[in-house]
Amino acid sequence: MLDPLRARAGRWSQVVAAVDDAMALLAVREIGALDALRDGPLTAGELGARLGVGPRRLRAFLDVAADLGFLGRQGASAAATYSLDPRDEALLDADADGAQLLPTEDLRTLFSRRAQALDVLRTDVGLQVASSGGAVSEGERDGFLRYLDRHARAEASEVAELLSDEPINRFADLGCGAGTYAHALLGRNPGATAVLVDRPNAGALVQEGLRRAGQAERACFLGADLHEDTWVAAVGAPLDAVILSNVVHNHDPEACRGLLRRAATALRPGGRLLLKEFFMNDDGAGPPGALRFALSMALMSPGGDLYTCPELAGWLTEAGLDPGAPIRLLTAPESFVFVATKT
Ligand SMILES: C[S@@+](CC[C@H](N)C(=O)[O-])C[C@H]1O[C@@H](n2cnc3c(N)ncnc32)[C@H](O)[C@@H]1O
Repeated sequence: MLDPLRARAGRWSQVVAAVDDAMALLAVREIGALDALRDGPLTAGELGARLGVGPRRLRAFLDVAADLGFLGRQGASAAATYSLDPRDEALLDADADGAQLLPTEDLRTLFSRRAQALDVLRTDVGLQVASSGGAVSEGERDGFLRYLDRHARAEASEVAELLSDEPINRFADLGCGAGTYAHALLGRNPGATAVLVDRPNAGALVQEGLRRAGQAERACFLGADLHEDTWVAAVGAPLDAVILSNVVHNHDPEACRGLLRRAATALRPGGRLLLKEFFMNDDGAGPPGALRFALSMALMSPGGDLYTCPELAGWLTEAGLDPGAPIRLLTAPESFVFVATKT
C-alpha cells in the first residue's frame, strides 16, 4: 500500500504539473505547429523543418498536446506523425465562427501574470487587466471583448427574453464590453434606445458592433468610470432598465454597493436592474469553477470577488431595489441573474 505521505506528495506534484499542460498546448499553438498541421499530418522532424525549430524538443511538446487530446498521433517515437483534430479547424481559422472562443492570454502573459501572485498578496494591489476595467491598451481590451462577445451571445438573448414581459424604451448597459447584451435587448425592443457605458478605449469596438448590428442610430457609447457619479446624468436617466452583466465581480464590496446605488438612481420607479453574475455557493466554498474564477479576480482585479446571492440581494435591497429571487440561466448554468425592481 502507498504510504499516505507519499500519496499526499504525489497529489501535490500532480497539481503543480498541470501548468506543464498549459505550457505545452500554448507553445505548440504559438510556435505555429497547429497552423502548419492544417495542411496534413507531419512528423516532428518535418514540422520542425517547416517551423525552423529542433525536432527533439518539439516532439516532447507535441506528445503532451496529443496526450491532452488536441493532436492525433500515429506511429512510434521519432517516426510518429501528428495530425490536427478536424473539429479544431474552426478554432484556428481567424475568419471562422469559433476563432474567438479560445482564451486570449498567450503563453508569456499567462505565466508572467501568475508569477506575480506573491507580489499581489504582499502589496494587496491587483494586476491591471481588460476584464476588470484596468488601464490596458486598446489592443488588449479589443481582444478580450471580442472573446467575451463570442461567449455571451446565447446568454444575452436569454436575458433579453427574461426582460421581455414589459416594454423598454430606454436603457443603459453598464460595463457593456463589446455590447453583446445591449445588441440583444435592442433587437428584442425595436423602439428602444440605449447608452452603452465602458472605459473610453472600448469605444471603437462598441461603435463598430452597433454599426454592424444596424443599431447605431438607436444607441450611443459613453466612455466613463462607473465608480464616478458623472455617468448617471449623462445616460439620460430615468431609465426603464439597466444591465450590469459580469461587472460587480471585478470590484470590492464598497465599490459594488456604490455602483448599485448609482444604477438604482438612474432607474425610474418600477424600472429594472438586471444583474448577471457567476454563481458562488452561499458558504463561498464552491463550486470548483467559481473558486478558480474568484482566484483570478483576486489576482487580476482591483478588489474583485465572486459574491453570493444573499450578499448581492442585500446590496440591491440597500440600493432601494426589490431583488426578487435569483434565476439560473439555461444557456449558462454557471451563471444567474437578479431582475431587481426599483421600489
Ligand atoms: C467581464 S467584462 C463584461 C462585459 C459585458 N457586460 C458582458 O457581460 O459580456 C467587464 C466590463 O466592465 C468594464 N468595467 C469594469 N470596471 C469598469 C469601470 N470602473 N468603469 C467602466 N467600465 C468598467 C470592463 O472594461 C469590461 O468591459
